[in-house]
Amino acid sequence: MAFNLRRLHAEDETLIAQAAQVLQAAFDGLTPSWRAWEDALSEVREVIDDADLLIAALDDEGQVLGWIGGLEQYDGHVYELHPLCVAPQAQGQGIGRALVLALEDEARRRGATTIFLGTDDETGHTNISGIDLYPQLAYYLENLQSTANHPFTFYAHLGYRVTGFIPDANGLGKHDILMAKRLA
Ligand SMILES: CC(C)(COP(=O)(O)OP(=O)(O)OC[C@H]1O[C@@H](n2cnc3c(N)ncnc32)[C@H](O)[C@@H]1OP(=O)(O)O)[C@@H](O)C(=O)NCCC(=O)NCCS
Repeated sequence: MAFNLRRLHAEDETLIAQAAQVLQAAFDGLTPSWRAWEDALSEVREVIDDADLLIAALDDEGQVLGWIGGLEQYDGHVYELHPLCVAPQAQGQGIGRALVLALEDEARRRGATTIFLGTDDETGHTNISGIDLYPQLAYYLENLQSTANHPFTFYAHLGYRVTGFIPDANGLGKHDILMAKRLA
């Protein structure tokens, strides 16, 4: 599928609405966070408001296929990758990878040294789901595994390392996986 990348800004109202739709579709069944339309729309607007760093992939007709956000942290030394979503029918065609690389380029251009992200496991797709992490944090840093195509493996494929967890971030046994990459 052919696509091109462009930044979205606050005035791109039609594309912002499409981005909210993609967010809902991509995370359907993975998190309840953006089920409500207002929440999805607010998420897109908040990303743009934070650091004006939202990159979208558009098809030939200008429809949003996926998008990624970058939030400024630590006085700009660090950008948080949040969120990343590709429409279900457009997944597996290189769009996610292109969006991550474009975000890295822009963060690097702004002088950042690090990109980090949190990728939740709310649906039992890794071997840390449902367990008490505290007694075995170091073990699972080295031995985290996907049991059902969890996206942390997508990020690992792109050079991100697991740097930690937020235990029970989404309720007991539902952890957030923290990952980071140096922007050399
Ligand atoms: C995760 C997601 C962004 C990946 O985007 P995508 O466009 O489907 O991924 P790409 O086609 O760019 O894949 C790039 C590479 O990663 C690999 N990959 C993709 N998803 C993967 C996964 N879940 N596990 C392991 N590898 C994966 C691809 O095989 C490809 O490898 P290759 O370059 O060797 O061929 C997309 O599936 C998505 O939106 N999922 C739902 C929302 C989500 O989970 N977002 C991230 C939460 S933090």
